[in-house]
Amino acid sequence: MSLYARIRDDLNSVLERDPAARSRLEVFLCYPGLWAVWIHRISHALWRAKLRLFARLLSQVGRFFTGVDIHPGATLGRRLFIDHATGVVIGETAIVGNDVTMYQGVTLGGTGKGHGKRHPTVCDGVFIGNNANLLGNITIGENSRVGAGSVVLSDVPPDSTVVGVPAHIVYRNGERVLITDPHDIKDPLSDALIALSARVEEMEKQLGGKPQPAEPFATEEAERAAYRKRLARMREYVSMGEGI
Ligand SMILES: CC(C)(COP(=O)(O)OP(=O)(O)OC[C@H]1O[C@@H](n2cnc3c(N)ncnc32)[C@H](O)[C@@H]1OP(=O)(O)O)[C@@H](O)C(=O)NCCC(=O)NCCS
Repeated sequence: MSLYARIRDDLNSVLERDPAARSRLEVFLCYPGLWAVWIHRISHALWRAKLRLFARLLSQVGRFFTGVDIHPGATLGRRLFIDHATGVVIGETAIVGNDVTMYQGVTLGGTGKGHGKRHPTVCDGVFIGNNANLLGNITIGENSRVGAGSVVLSDVPPDSTVVGVPAHIVYRNGERVLITDPHDIKDPLSDALIALSARVEEMEKQLGGKPQPAEPFATEEAERAAYRKRLARMREYVSMGEGI
């Protein structure tokens, strides 16, 4: 593919993904996230040619002008779109697939503990919301979505949506995933919740038999379904934040 065709491909991919973009010229002139990717292509070539210092210097020049810090050793796929650019950090051993979208403040970083491959692998078609932190040698499966502000510390299966700190799955293959077992909650309150649930079970046993609800979390799920129905009616007026 010629250089011109590649640039055109990048510009078109931004036009497809950002409703705020109006023309290729506007994208070319006003999207520092794209400039950062283009500068990385050159610094990565220098890195592979073992001109390591020049590669690092160029990536620092790129960081100065775009606010995006991509290590020249990182491997980036085609049509990566970094919207709003500022504050994105991509570590040396990170691998990013094709058609990935990320917003400002995303970090593909190490945990500070490992050597060798210590940054995430992000597969094709992944969407990463603003200020999400993906840490360590983890893999984010194809077409998954990472919520804004999430901290992802373990692998994410393909076609899933993860949110929270630390991140947990809320959708998988289009199906809502509800946490019904306190062992699945990985936050500072986990131990307290597990102890509480064990205590409740013990008390139920003492009272003689556990009353079984028809379906766990049925009321909560019904409330959510009603809310989503209302939201679907308003869809044409409400944006989920993408493309702002
Ligand atoms: C993660 C995301 C893609 C999910 O969108 P979605 O598929 O429409 O999911 P929903 O809105 O149905 O949310 C599912 C659940 O996750 C929760 N959730 C969604 N995003 C979350 C987030 N970033 N952090 C924590 N919880 C979140 C919702 O509250 C909901 O929980 P509930 O059903 O218990 O109330 C979206 O919320 C998001 O974070 N987009 C990022 C947008 C962005 O970065 N914009 C920047 C523009 S400059």
